[in-house]
Amino acid sequence: MEIQEMIQQIVRQDIEKLILSNPKTKNFPYRKMTIRPMLIQNHRMMQMERFTDKQAFHENIEPGDLAQALQHALQQEYTQLDGFTKEATYLIKISKKGKVLFKKRPRTGENMAKAQDKTPAGQNRQKHYVLPAELAPQPLIDLGVVTPNGQVIASRYDKFKQINRLIELIGESIEPQTRALRIIDFGCGKSYLTFVLYYYLTEIRGIEVHMTGLDLKADVIENCRQIASRYAYGNLHFEIGDIAAYQPEGPVDMVISLHACDTATDYALYNAMRWQTQRIFSVPCCQHELAGQMKKQSDGTLTQHGLLKQRFAALLTDALRADLLAAQGYRVDALEFIDMEHSPKNLLLRAVKTGTADVKAKERVEQAMRQYQVEPTLYRLLYAEAKQL
Ligand SMILES: C[S@@+](CC[C@H](N)C(=O)[O-])C[C@H]1O[C@@H](n2cnc3c(N)ncnc32)[C@H](O)[C@@H]1O
Repeated sequence: MEIQEMIQQIVRQDIEKLILSNPKTKNFPYRKMTIRPMLIQNHRMMQMERFTDKQAFHENIEPGDLAQALQHALQQEYTQLDGFTKEATYLIKISKKGKVLFKKRPRTGENMAKAQDKTPAGQNRQKHYVLPAELAPQPLIDLGVVTPNGQVIASRYDKFKQINRLIELIGESIEPQTRALRIIDFGCGKSYLTFVLYYYLTEIRGIEVHMTGLDLKADVIENCRQIASRYAYGNLHFEIGDIAAYQPEGPVDMVISLHACDTATDYALYNAMRWQTQRIFSVPCCQHELAGQMKKQSDGTLTQHGLLKQRFAALLTDALRADLLAAQGYRVDALEFIDMEHSPKNLLLRAVKTGTADVKAKERVEQAMRQYQVEPTLYRLLYAEAKQL
């Protein structure tokens, strides 16, 4: 098939987004170009956005001129085109020797992901990712997860899967927006998830977001700031600070915390609740607090052995968190977002504010606290110190 025909196949579809990447020459100033449909004064146009390391430049063209623009770009400027339409994803890739690869895949989505999960064990599942490796998003390349030519680096496969699944779950929860979405990532660390989520929401979904990553470590945050500036991610900010003391500048729509250590997760959840945040995605880890408080009980089988007590205390911590969220009017799911083999820290607390409190949830928490003689930080923040929200 000629390259013109490949382009025609794509432009005939209902295009959501096109990405041109991998410039043909090193000194080409625009490392990437994205194209997406846009209504400008009620007239449908295609907006081309070219990115240098520091800036983005816009140009609007008529849909009828798109095929020619793509042809020019693939002949003169870029070696890769990724296309996202309502029905399918497309890839055109030109090798150094000028060989052209063309791939079309049905669009993946929630239903498809669910269908995959139901595939009986042992069958050869075809994996679909919201961020396929072939797309080679710059953050995943720079984070050493994917190679520039779109291969997952073998030792980083677990990270690749984890990020994709979280992005998929977060992405599913976001409806079309009429205003910018405000997201905070607490304990962002090196910000794998933060950068990739920003990329996904802004560049793939075309959603306007204002995102902040917060962490205690100054050097890590400085590095994240430099990367955000290199990508020209103007609405992605990084701040040094303690989750417990953090004050946002305005309302917050979503709070994320991925492996924020021990009670840092409690402060993240508490902040989200007191700011009436609509959505929370929290993957706890290092749940040591309750194991430290829990005494060996002569009549309690779960506290007889140190290791089992620790594991039980960790589970209890997250069960209490889930109930405390429910008590404050959140619908909560506790789910394994990824198979244990890819990460043992795989429990996700996903919470959506409904405003309807589970009236029994607080009683359940208090009963467990009496039984195991513990007082979790989140309970203390909500009821002992700050009173009920
Ligand atoms: C295990 S790392 C996870 C980093 C990142 N979210 C990820 O999953 O790749 C935990 C991060 O939380 C940060 N952290 C822990 N307690 C914190 C606190 N109270 N306030 C802000 N950051 C905190 C640590 O500095 C660390 O970078």
